[in-house]
Parts: sequence; structure tokens; C-alpha cells
Amino acid sequence: TIENKVTQLLSKMTLEEKIGQMNQYNGFWNVTGPKPSDGDAAKKYEHLKKGYVGSMLNVRGVKEVRAVQKIAVEETRLGIPLIIGFDVIHGYKTLSPIPLAEAASWDLAAIKKSARVAAKESAAAGINWTFAPMVDISRDARWGRVMEGAGEDPFLGSKIAIARVQGFQGDDLSSHQTIAACAKHWAGYGFAEAGRDYNTVDVGTSTLNNIIFPPFKAAMDAGVRTFMNSFNELNGIPATGNVYLQRDILKGKWGFDGFVVSDWGSINEMIAHGYAKDKKHAAELSAIAGSDMDMESYAYVDELANLVREGKVKESLIDDAVTRILKVKFELGLFDDPYKYCNEDYEKEVTGSKEIHDAVLDVAKKSIVLLKNANQVLPLKKEGQHIALIGVLAADKTSSLGSWRIAADDNTAVSVLEGLQKYTGNKITYAKGADVVIGKTEFAIELQINTEDKSGFSEAIATAKKSDVVVMVLGEHGFQSGEARSRTDLNLPGVQQELLEAIYKVNKNIVLVLNNGRPLTITWADEHVPAIVEAWQLGTQSGNAIAEVLYGDYNPSGKLPMSFPRNVGQVPIYYNYKNTGRPIIPAPNEVFWSHYIDESNDPLYPFGHGLSYTTFYYSNLVVNKISNEAVEVSVEIKNTGTLLGKEVAQLYIQDVFASVTRPVKELKGFEMIELKPNEQKTIKFKLTNKELGFFNNEGEFVLEPGEFKVYVGGSSKTVLESKFNLE
Ligand code: IFM
Repeated sequence: TIENKVTQLLSKMTLEEKIGQMNQYNGFWNVTGPKPSDGDAAKKYEHLKKGYVGSMLNVRGVKEVRAVQKIAVEETRLGIPLIIGFDVIHGYKTLSPIPLAEAASWDLAAIKKSARVAAKESAAAGINWTFAPMVDISRDARWGRVMEGAGEDPFLGSKIAIARVQGFQGDDLSSHQTIAACAKHWAGYGFAEAGRDYNTVDVGTSTLNNIIFPPFKAAMDAGVRTFMNSFNELNGIPATGNVYLQRDILKGKWGFDGFVVSDWGSINEMIAHGYAKDKKHAAELSAIAGSDMDMESYAYVDELANLVREGKVKESLIDDAVTRILKVKFELGLFDDPYKYCNEDYEKEVTGSKEIHDAVLDVAKKSIVLLKNANQVLPLKKEGQHIALIGVLAADKTSSLGSWRIAADDNTAVSVLEGLQKYTGNKITYAKGADVVIGKTEFAIELQINTEDKSGFSEAIATAKKSDVVVMVLGEHGFQSGEARSRTDLNLPGVQQELLEAIYKVNKNIVLVLNNGRPLTITWADEHVPAIVEAWQLGTQSGNAIAEVLYGDYNPSGKLPMSFPRNVGQVPIYYNYKNTGRPIIPAPNEVFWSHYIDESNDPLYPFGHGLSYTTFYYSNLVVNKISNEAVEVSVEIKNTGTLLGKEVAQLYIQDVFASVTRPVKELKGFEMIELKPNEQKTIKFKLTNKELGFFNNEGEFVLEPGEFKVYVGGSSKTVLESKFNLE
């Protein structure tokens, strides 16, 4: 068995070789964190040869992977292969939509397939392990990394976590087409105060257990082989040194048998947090807390052997970490053939193959959310129209690749201009109007600086005046969201809002296509612009997907995975909030209730919102009690429009009173159905103790008697309501 093989190998290893397995080095090419002051290339090569490196990240392409693997396998005493990690977040060379966009598809099969092809393409390039999925729940659009997760809801987030893990890992981890997945960031990273990346996280037990933990648990139950801890402190203890998170919950209560990798430099960062006094202390704290692998802190490789000799860290803890790491390497089949991922011909054959492009186009279409469509401006007519296409993002071939696209080349996305030009019946005139940002490279700070240049306005206005319809592609550059891209302002960056208003003055027939990595405050646009399409950053096939939706060849079916605020002052804003003791306006002119005096409490677009070119009518909500722990809910849905369309029917519950207060609504079921015009279907949901219970403040899962409400509809602003009681 693998266990026996691991035990045998472990018995042959010196302490230094064991610690080597716990050491991960960045490759010599990309950096996805601050450039470390120690760890020059010469030291890394020397350590590789001695067997003091267990893993490398950011080594890419068969040639490079083979080169480092060869050292590990052929030059070290025991020949233990490296595990090669990489941020395959939404694809490798061929990119799917950013994960937040994919979550908007609510299409678990398409999401799984997207992870599947990402695994295939990256595995063909020598990668064994992705640092994905990010399963952090996020409620604050100021945080740039909302683009990398599945949004604000733990139920949807859990289903998507499972789909992504299954997609990456497949049924057989030892296949040369699958890679190990990593649930990150354990835990609480999405709750950074004020949405500022890496910031302090202070959350209570109820939020931890009911909101933050569930997608991680779902990923673990789906068999995810690794976890990554997070940069943040959680309630005063950095996650990397957090015994409660890593030992008590993950490896203890949940029985996780894979390994935990630190985040980039997060062991050392415990010094800046004010938790460790120096690097040696940081190594001690994180090893004891259960961080099995050190990414780019040089703390384990430099300090751990001495800590063991001094009796500060037990060797049994080292053995436990190494056992976990070796086990995953055996499961990947790396010991059977360390070069199984290293075939240049196969790499060429798979990279950018038709299967991959088809899958990313499919999920890209499904990720688009129709936010508004007044006067049936959409779909566009296919002939005889003069379309003005405005906005720098409309012709851009890089931005829509989004953040986390380390291996994808610039200019490899299909632009909206190219996508629309494939439909030849209309005349298209393109005008840039305005830039979004100044710089062009991912890690340059100027990408976060919006341009104020309005020199392109007059050309854009003249073009809009002459046209029947104006398609404006506005939003954020792909690198304005992502890690370390927090914003305090959620408006359209730069002068784009001014551009929009200037165009509106001359032609009101506007279709606003948003490209963005987070919810934006587009309240003015919602009030004025007739059609708004949320097209996120959709990856390599972006322009084709957008064109198909604008022309109605794909009837939009996406639903928002995050609430869109009306105003940045409302964040964090999420549908599953608690009621407070004063939730309702008591009387006209009465001030003492939970509200803002300058803005409504409601979001601009609620979680789950998304329109179609057809319409759906919900009726006949029936709740049948099956037992005192289970009910069946059925509802009828009819396509009342004129086109074939898909609808994501959503079921929410409210546990009206409980020993720990429960949210006003919680998503507990959803189903996507396709209906022809006039077609009607009945769909059924089953709610069991799993959906009806919750974690109390002792961390126990309980199902309490009392009244429950059930809501069903096409968004979290549901249309039908019923109730039942549990005794
Ligand atoms: O995987 C990432 C992580 O999410 C953020 N820091 C760097 C890691 C490796 O690139």
C-alpha cells in the first residue's frame, strides 16, 4: 500500500532530508509574492541537489520541469521526486472566466469541465498541483480577490468547491491528465477588515462555522489533497501558526489526511504580525501548528533541524508532515514515473486544443449575467444596424484574461470587437473613448492608477451620434482586481463614468457591457442605460462569448454570486444578513431603525439576480413534510416569453428563531432548468437536517424545532413564500 511505501521511505530519511520535503522553493522565473531577500539561485540549486527541496512552484513548461525534476530524481541520495505547484486558477495557457464569473453560471457541470481542461493543459506542461480552488467566502467587493472565489454564499460556494476539486483531480490522481487541488486560504482570508488585502480578520464562532468553514469542508469531503493556509491573522493568531485551525479543526475534527502548504512567505510574516519573535520562532510555531510545507519563507530549511535537536519541535511532527507530503506524491504516481508529466510532444498536442477552447467558450457564455434589459434593446438585430463600439476594453485582447494568468500570453483573448465582427450583417465603428489605466504590466503599480485622459471623448461621441445602437465596454482592467488590488471606490475607474454620461447625451440606446473582477457601483447606469450585461473577465474566448449573448445565439442564464452595492458605503453587503432588533421602518418619519439616512439598505442587484431574453413565472409552491427532519418543496416554473431559455430556480430558508440567530435567508437548493416558450415544469427540492440545521457556538451541528420559512424564486429577492414547523 501507499502507507507502507511511505513508512519504508521515511525510515531511510535523515532529519535534513525529511525537512527538505517540507521545503518549497519558487522557480527561477515568476514571482507571485514579494521577492525574497534570501534564497538566491545558487542556494536553491545546492539544496535541490542535497534533497532539501520537496516542491517547487512557478516552474512551467515541460523543459523547465524536467530540468529541476532531473536534479531531484537523479542527483539526490534518495531520488524523491518534486511536486510541482502552480496557480492554475482559471486555466493555464487557455483561460476560462475568472472564478467569480464562473460561479455566476451556477452550472456545476460546466465549472467542473473548466477545471478538468485546466488540469489537462497544465498537467501536459509538467504541473502536478494547482493552488486552487480558492474557496474563501467574500462579502466585501473592495477586496480584490473576490475575483478568485465563488462569491458570498457558503451553499453555492460549497457546490462549486466540489465541482472544482473533482474537475482538477478527476477520479484518478495518478493519471497524467489530473493534478492535485488545494483548498485555500485556510481560513478567513475573505473577511479582511475594510476589504484591504492581508488585513486583520476578527470573526466569531457562528460566522466561522456557518459561513467560512463549509466550502472548505465540502472540498475536503470531495477529496481535495492539500490546503493552503492564509496570510491573515484570525482572532489574534496568524492562520499559519494557528493550532485551532490546522490541528484541532482540519486535521483533528475533520480528519484531513492530505498536507497543508503555507502561503508565500506567510511563516516569516508572523514576525511582522507580532506573533513570532524571529524566523526560528516562526518555524517552530508553524510546524507545531501543522503547516506542513513552507512556501518561500526559508524558515524550515534553515531552522527546523536545530529546533528538533533542541527538543522544541518533536520529530514526530516532522514525520507526520513528511508522511502527508510523500503520500500525495505517491498518489500522483510520481514515484512510478517522475517524468510522466514531462512529454514535449504531448504538451504541444494538448496546449490550446479544440477541446479546451470549446470548454472555456461554453463556460464563458454561461457566466454572463444580464442585469437589465429595458425596451428589449437586446438581443441585437443581426442585420442593417450601425453599431458604435466604444471603450478601450472592447478592443483589448489581454485585460479579459483577468488576474492570475501567469502562463497565458498577452493578446491571446478574443476581443469584443473581434467577436462582434464575426457577425457580418451590421456595420461596426470602433472608438476607444477612454483608457482605463496607465500601465500595462501585471505587477506594476501604475495598473492601479486610473487615467484621466479624455482626448478620445470627441471621436467616441461623434461615432455614437451616427449609430443605431451603442455598445460600450467599460469596467476594470484585468489587473485591477486580484491579489493586492483592493479598492476604496467601486465606481467605473478613471473617466469611464464621464464617458458613459457624455455618450448617453447623444444616444440613449446603449448596451453597457461590463468587464470587471468584482461588483461595481453602477447605480447611475442602472437608472439610465437600457441594457446592462455583466461580462466579467471571461478569459481567452471572451469576445466570442459576449458576441453570442449580445446577438441572442446564447440566451443569458447567469445569476450573480455576489450582491452589487448601490454605494461603497454599504459594503460588506450580502443577502444572508441577520435581521437586527429593528429591521423595519416603524412609521413614516421614525428614525430609530437599522438603516442609512442617505442610502437604501438594499443592494442595486441582489445575490442570485440575472435576467434572460425570455421570462419565467413561478407558481404553486408546496411544502410537504416527510418527517420531523425532512421536507419536500415543489414549485412550478413556466416560460412565459417567446424564446427557449434557462432559469436557475433558487430555494432559500429562514429558521425563524433559534438558540443562535439565523440569517433572514439562506440558499439551500438550486436547479437549472431549460424551458421552451409556454413550457412548464415542476421541480422538487428535498430539505433534510443537513440543510435545516446549523452550527451553534460550541461548534456542534444542531437541528432545532420551530418555524421555518421557505422562499423560492429566480433570485434572493424571491417571489414565493411558504412555511412549516419542526417539532
Ligand atoms: O497560491 C498563491 C496564493 O493564493 C497567494 N500567494 C502566492 C501563492 C502562490 O503563488
